[in-house]
This record gives sequence, structure tokens and C-alpha cells, in this order.
Amino acid sequence: MPEEALHQRLRSATATAHAALERDLDWVARVATREGYRGLLARLHGFHVTWEPAIGAALADGDFFDLRCRVPALAQDLTYLGLSSTGIEDLPQARPIPLPSPAAAMGALYVLEGSTLGGRVIGRHITATHGLTGPGLAYYSGHGARTGAMWLAFRARLDTFDGDAAQVVSAANGTFDAMRDWLAPPARD
Ligand code: HEM
Repeated sequence: MPEEALHQRLRSATATAHAALERDLDWVARVATREGYRGLLARLHGFHVTWEPAIGAALADGDFFDLRCRVPALAQDLTYLGLSSTGIEDLPQARPIPLPSPAAAMGALYVLEGSTLGGRVIGRHITATHGLTGPGLAYYSGHGARTGAMWLAFRARLDTFDGDAAQVVSAANGTFDAMRDWLAPPARD
């Protein structure tokens, strides 16, 4: 399947899951206070800290993947917002879905990489609300000035990906659903 077709397919096949996550995340209310913002980052940390190694192992391409890891940014922000290193280590962690192939890893990574795009909107809001610009805003700065280029490079990789497209799509939807279960407040439904 041509790459652009795979990206388009992923985008439309996950649109409903993206909308559900965006709705249930309730991020504006959660980041209204610094404490709430820190709580959201703690939850994101619990997700990235287990999914990133799982994706890295299945993808087996450190040159491509390592720069995309965002646990260090989360740890930096949490430290800035007052958590100790033991406090960070003790945060609850999500259990990843099985990622049995590079195709599944690409689907999961599509979700994490795509979150840097919407993250720019959230980052601007956090700057406006809490005055954070550098320290404390590392996660929601995505890949910084390189966010657009990193996304284009990821899409290019999708365009040339030679694997089972159905597995990519299924893992992307599984990741969106797992993220929604993990991040959305328990009282959501
Ligand atoms: C952790 C939660 C989120 C995840 C995992 C996520 C994931 C994604 C993904 C995978 C894409 C890429 C779509 C494509 O293929 O083009 C995307 C794009 C986008 N997301 Fe989200 N998203 C999240 C939360 C949000 C939220 C809360 C907003 C609203 C503020 C948002 C707004 C957007 C926008 C505006 C784009 C398109 C950006 C562009 O094309 O430049 N997202 N997101």
C-alpha cells in the first residue's frame, strides 16, 4: 500500500477514537490549576514510561525511535512542579497492549507522535494560564521547533512502510482506546 494511503487510512480509521479522547480528556478543566496540570502530567508519565519501551522493542530502530521518547520531558516537568525522583518512580504505570510487530509499533507510535500536534494547542493554553514557557512545559513543547519536521519524517516513514497495514491501524486504535481509559477521569461514564 502506498504510504500516503496508509497515513490517510490511519487518520480516518482513528478519527472517532481521537474525538473520544479529546472529549473525555477534559484537559481545559484539568490544567486550570498547577496541581491539576501536574496530575495530568503524572498520568501521561505512567503511560509513556511503559509504552515507549514496548514500542522501541517492537520497532527495533533506535536511530528513528529514541529521539521521539518523551519520558525525559515528563520527568523534567514533574520535577520542576515539585515531585521528587522517588515520587516519579512510584507513579502508577499503564500496561501496554501487546505490540507483536514493527507494524503494531508504528500504529502505537502514530498516536504518540500525533499527540505532539494537538499538544501545541494545550501548550499555548498552559503558557497563558500558568506562565510556563520552558521549564515545566517540556512535554507540551513536543519536539520544540522540530515538531513539524519530526511529524513529516514520521509520515514519510509511514509512506514507505512495508508491513501489514491492518495491524498498524488496529494498534493505533488500541492505543487511542488504552490512552483514553488511562487518562480520562474515572467518572467519565
Ligand atoms: C493525548 C491525547 C491526544 C492524542 C493521543 C492525539 C493524537 C493525535 C494524532 C495521532 C494526530 C494526527 C492526525 C493526523 O494523522 O493528521 C493528532 C492531530 C491533531 N490533534 Fe490530537 N491528540 C490528542 C489530544 C488532542 C487534543 C486535546 C486536541 C485539542 C486541543 C487535539 C488536537 C489536534 C489537532 C488540532 C490535530 C491536527 C494538527 C495538525 O494537523 O496540524 N488533540 N492528534
